[in-house]
Amino acid sequence: MNYKEALQLDIFSTISKAATELQLETYVIGGFVRDFLLKRGDAKDIDVVAVGSGIELAKKVASLLPGNSKVQVFKNYGTAMIKTKEIEVEFVGARKESYERGSRNPAVEDGTLQDDQNRRDFSINAMALSLNENTFGDLLDPFNGLQDLEDKRIVTPLDPDITYSDDPLRMMRAIRFATQLNFRIDPVSLEAITRNSNRIEIISKERIVVELNKTLSSATPSIGLKLLEKTNLLGHILPELVALKGIDEKEGQTHKDNFYHTLEVVDNISEHTDDVWLRWAALLHDIGKAPTKRFHKKNGWTFHGHEFVGGKMVFKLFKRLRMPLNEKMKFVQKMVMMSSRPIVLSQDGVTDSAVRRLVFDAGDHVEDLMTLCEADITTKNPKKFAKYHNNFKIVRQKIVEVEERDHVRNFQPPVSGEEIIKAFNLKPSREIGIIKHAIKEAILEGEIPNEHTAAYEFMLAKGKSLGLEVHVSK
Ligand code: CTP
Repeated sequence: MNYKEALQLDIFSTISKAATELQLETYVIGGFVRDFLLKRGDAKDIDVVAVGSGIELAKKVASLLPGNSKVQVFKNYGTAMIKTKEIEVEFVGARKESYERGSRNPAVEDGTLQDDQNRRDFSINAMALSLNENTFGDLLDPFNGLQDLEDKRIVTPLDPDITYSDDPLRMMRAIRFATQLNFRIDPVSLEAITRNSNRIEIISKERIVVELNKTLSSATPSIGLKLLEKTNLLGHILPELVALKGIDEKEGQTHKDNFYHTLEVVDNISEHTDDVWLRWAALLHDIGKAPTKRFHKKNGWTFHGHEFVGGKMVFKLFKRLRMPLNEKMKFVQKMVMMSSRPIVLSQDGVTDSAVRRLVFDAGDHVEDLMTLCEADITTKNPKKFAKYHNNFKIVRQKIVEVEERDHVRNFQPPVSGEEIIKAFNLKPSREIGIIKHAIKEAILEGEIPNEHTAAYEFMLAKGKSLGLEVHVSK
């Protein structure tokens, strides 16, 4: 079969020309070919394999390109890269790889195209298109990846035990592709993943997180999360989630399975946001429930303080997975810590002051928090479902109203510490803090508007009530 139409970018004819000049067999392989056949949009990463030196080929290609194209050479890996504004092309030499079991360092030998295809992860990723002059566009598909694309099947070229132990990250890649593409993992492969799951321990956290993020960024992340759990990989990566599994029963009282609830929340939120960090917040919003679970004769199952405990766990989890400990982590932590606030608020009655406090505490993240809380509604009782959503609609409306009026989102005290010091001729002292706090509380409670004149008057009165003498009047 010929797919010349996949190779319309100028870069392909340039590579072809370079290959002819060097007399090197050359192919485009992997994700580019797969995504073209799936009509998944224009791939920007192009992998080119040469039967010989990929580095030489890259240098030749660069010399034929207009302008000053630079080649980045990674000698240790025997690869080279050319980047243009639109695309990134990686050049490798075809390899025959024999891994020593238990070792992470492959012994690499030069090989044929078929050798190279053998050592790739899945049949759908092992397809190559010829860039050679006489066969330009021919598909080389030794493992029938085309059929597997049609059957929506993830299967390894070799015995899966070999493919997965060569690079255990592939176990997560299988699950990630199954989730992204809505494909089924071949049962034999799935068994092999389960059998080899503990080998994921030798993989760097950074690579694991890349796959986790891709799974979480898919349309229905629960597909992958269920597979991670089923194959035991999840226990190695995110044991906090596995701990949420199961339903306990005591004295006839049960609680919901918080693992499956979490998966529903993640799928729900994915319909409303592509922000992977908000999706992380959904994934982790209940992790504090495992360590805080208690049974009381009177109240049944409780998870007191799970939001706070969960927030602390977020930090440890990010640290363990070497994820960024920056504002992204703080955002996830904040969402987890505040995840019950809107629910409590909507149950207690949506007062202005409660909404003002919510906006004050959540700041710019208040809409994200609402999105999380709406996704958290997984009740199967249609009446309750409608009621909770309606309550949140009221909360959202109130947020807009309160914001327009009071601007407490990024609260700046309308009266400064300086002004308090001046007004009462104070030295730095406790009173300043007390007055500042009282002003903030009065605004949040709606006793005074969030503006300077009212706050100044309030400050004078508060100072007097503390026994302070007014030094300068306004
Ligand atoms: N590959 C592999 N084993 C891995 C990683 C990659 O065999 N652990 C091979 C596959 O043939 C894959 C190609 O290298 O298609 C390129 O890998 P990569 O760029 O990581 O993934 P893509 O398949 O291009 O998919 P995506 O861009 O969605 O990550």
